[in-house]
Amino acid sequence: MTIYMKNNKQKEPSPASSSPPSYSYRRFFSAPQYHLFNLFSHLLIFGFGLLIGITLTLFLKNFSLNFQIQQVFTPSFSPSPISTSNITTSNNDTKVVTLTRDRLRVFLKPDKAMHNMSDEELLWKASMFPKIKEVPSKHHTPKVAFMFLTKGPVLLAPLWEKFFKGNEGLFSIYVHSSPYFNGTVPQSSVFHGRRIPSKEVRWGDFNMIGAERRLLANALLDLSNQRFVLLSESCIPLFNFSTIYNYLMNSTETFIEAYDFPGQVGRGRYNSKMKPYIKLSQWRKGSQWFQIDRALAIEIVSDQRYYPVFKKYCRNGCYGDEHYLPTLVSIKFWERNSNRTLTWVDWSKGGPHPSRYMRMNVTIGFLKKLRYGSRCQYNGETTNICHLFARKFMPHALDRLMRFAPQIMQFN
Ligand SMILES: *[C@@H]1O[C@H](CO)[C@@H](O)[C@H](O)[C@H]1NC(C)=O
Ligand SMILES: *[C@@H]1O[C@H](CO)[C@@H](O)[C@H](O)[C@H]1NC(C)=O
Ligand SMILES: *[C@@H]1O[C@H](CO)[C@@H](O)[C@H](O)[C@H]1NC(C)=O
Ligand SMILES: *[C@@H]1O[C@H](CO)[C@@H](O)[C@H](O)[C@H]1NC(C)=O
Ligand SMILES: *[C@@H]1O[C@H](CO)[C@@H](O)[C@H](O)[C@H]1NC(C)=O
Ligand SMILES: *[C@@H]1O[C@H](CO)[C@@H](O)[C@H](O)[C@H]1NC(C)=O
Ligand SMILES: *[C@@H]1O[C@H](CO)[C@@H](O)[C@H](O)[C@H]1NC(C)=O
Ligand SMILES: *[C@@H]1O[C@H](CO)[C@@H](O)[C@H](O)[C@H]1NC(C)=O
Repeated sequence: MTIYMKNNKQKEPSPASSSPPSYSYRRFFSAPQYHLFNLFSHLLIFGFGLLIGITLTLFLKNFSLNFQIQQVFTPSFSPSPISTSNITTSNNDTKVVTLTRDRLRVFLKPDKAMHNMSDEELLWKASMFPKIKEVPSKHHTPKVAFMFLTKGPVLLAPLWEKFFKGNEGLFSIYVHSSPYFNGTVPQSSVFHGRRIPSKEVRWGDFNMIGAERRLLANALLDLSNQRFVLLSESCIPLFNFSTIYNYLMNSTETFIEAYDFPGQVGRGRYNSKMKPYIKLSQWRKGSQWFQIDRALAIEIVSDQRYYPVFKKYCRNGCYGDEHYLPTLVSIKFWERNSNRTLTWVDWSKGGPHPSRYMRMNVTIGFLKKLRYGSRCQYNGETTNICHLFARKFMPHALDRLMRFAPQIMQFN
């Protein structure tokens, strides 16, 4: 209205300036007539707007309701024969409720690790998160997702079997192994049917991060997974299940090791083309083996800012697996990160690989040292339990580990 009047006034010839301001309008309308005309036209426009608004709202409401229901209760991308016709055509509340309860259970806990989703679909699906924290389901005990990144079989599987025994319902297992690995896992094993759709991974190559994100995304699909642990085929647990479970569940922090390392194998791997997304002062190094919570896992699978930068510029001797997560977390999620990992490893001998432990290296004294031999902060207090896992243990070490585990690690 003001604009309309302003323009009108400006178009008036200069003589009007000497007369009272209302003079010019009087040529066509008297003042009251003009205002009435104005009011009427605005009412008309307002009415039209209202009508269009109401129609649109009604239409969109119908549309989005159907859309949402189909989205939420169709957990796989394969066309699902169940609910589509049932839910969308039925207005009967009881029917909808019983159906959704079944679907909710499947939605919360996909029972298979294998699926047909592409990486893109998988990451997209895993990046969703509920705003309401309490799950409306009785079948919800928080679980720890143990994610094994291996070449072939989980070499120390018998030790892990012993570790998991009796704790069913408190953990989930995911295995990412070479797509060319064709070995089988006996049905009685906790590792049976836990392989996820995998792609090739080469040591030191950036596709290692792709595999980590794939493991995280698969584990995120099970909404009861609340903690996420990345393990290699040479990792062992240092404590029994209940100790590890409580340590992870009660922690207020995430465990991604991150530190600034000035040398060639630290800052030396930074590529200045990463600017302005990543500055040299933000570049971090750390162990690949992490322990994190659900909130951070979702952030990692949905990172579309730093991942492409690393993918493009972290090549040829850059070792993305030692830098991507430490750098990402130190830039965006450092507040809850402890900057340490719970996986013990020995780099003291130097070289590109950490020390490996054979049969004779595994002694009671050595295991005790790994369990209680350091000091660190846990939930703001000093503790001597700083590592829950350790590497690298060779398959030859298995029989001694199996022998000592019940006694030292108090496996049942
Ligand atoms: C509708 O739901 C009922 C009860 O769960 C089920 O038996 C039936 O097969 C469903 N119908 C369709 C068309 O999916
Ligand atoms: C809903 O369906 C149930 C059984 O399928 C029936 O007993 C009940 O009367 C229906 N309610 C309404 C409001 O249609
Ligand atoms: C993947 O798709 C193939 C063929 O399209 C099908 O036979 C197989 O059952 C599907 N696997 C899963 C886990 O859905
Ligand atoms: C498994 O793969 C190896 C080569 O990696 C091949 O020689 C062997 O025949 C395969 N076994 C089966 C059962 O497919
Ligand atoms: C697990 O180990 C702790 C000591 O680390 C011990 O106190 C506890 O009793 C053990 N739990 C079980 C179920 O054996
Ligand atoms: C850790 O959490 C468990 C439940 O998961 C609880 O029983 C236990 O007392 C907690 N321990 C500490 C030290 O907070
Ligand atoms: C972890 O490192 C960041 C810097 O990268 C620092 O701001 C933060 O205080 C550190 N956190 C702890 C617990 O030391
Ligand atoms: C393992 O034991 C062998 C033989 O006793 C020894 O030479 C080697 O240094 C030990 N390795 C480590 C990492 O301690």
